[in-house]
Amino acid sequence: MTPLLELKNVSRFFGGLAALTDVSFDVRKDEILGLIGPNGAGKTTLFNVVNGFYAPSKGEVFFKGSRISGLKPHRICALGMARTFQVVKPLQRMSVLDNVIASAFLRAKNKAEAEAIATEVLLLTGLNDDRDVISKGLPLGKRKRLEIARALATKPELILLDESFAGLNPTEQNESIEIIRNIKGNSITIMIIEHNMKVIMSISDRIMVLNYGEKIAEGSPDEIRNNPLVIEAYLGETQNA
Ligand SMILES: Nc1ncnc2c1ncn2[C@@H]1O[C@H](COP(=O)(O)OP(=O)(O)O)[C@@H](O)[C@H]1O
Ligand SMILES: [Mg+2]
Repeated sequence: MTPLLELKNVSRFFGGLAALTDVSFDVRKDEILGLIGPNGAGKTTLFNVVNGFYAPSKGEVFFKGSRISGLKPHRICALGMARTFQVVKPLQRMSVLDNVIASAFLRAKNKAEAEAIATEVLLLTGLNDDRDVISKGLPLGKRKRLEIARALATKPELILLDESFAGLNPTEQNESIEIIRNIKGNSITIMIIEHNMKVIMSISDRIMVLNYGEKIAEGSPDEIRNNPLVIEAYLGETQNA
């Protein structure tokens, strides 16, 4: 079966810095692919190349079998791919509901349809009780969920989540894990960057590891946990932290 997302030999340079070097992988429909690696490894850059924020310097990106490298983010979003950002920035002065409605207009033909999509997404992300709250009044955990809700309102087949759990307390982390499982239950494929090992190991079907812009490993959570290269580059450091 054609993978949902496929990267072939992707590199991205910033001046003399190779943020990504010859990265190839695919994401299969309905899986959760975790992406881990030390700070500066190129994880966010990888998302930026996948969603069209940056063009790859070399290599190609395919989504649903079509080449998308070179397309702008809004075109790629319209094809069915959404993402969240590491630094959350919802439209601060709008209510939670209006924030999500604004995203839903990508597909909705009118206000009623946009509101229906928004309500569905608010229920899925556990934000429906906060629908009338002005976004800047939300605590960090809920602002992160609002980011996820806005991405979901574009009705993606693939969603890219960049550190959606960072800075959350254990209760919020558990709620977020629940939400990720709900998203997967709605047949949305997920690629997720996350530093919390307990979280990433428990939700991922497969994990890919980047180090200095290169893919150093890919496999099941158990394979990754026991991979000497990964332990040396990354896990040793987090396990001792
Ligand atoms: N727009 C940019 N211009 C210059 N350097 C960048 C840019 N974006 C990322 N980088 C560099 O690319 C490397 C990878 O960064 P990033 O993808 O943010 O890593 P990660 O998300 O894994 O922490 C870092 O050295 C970073 O400084
Ligand atoms: Mg990052």
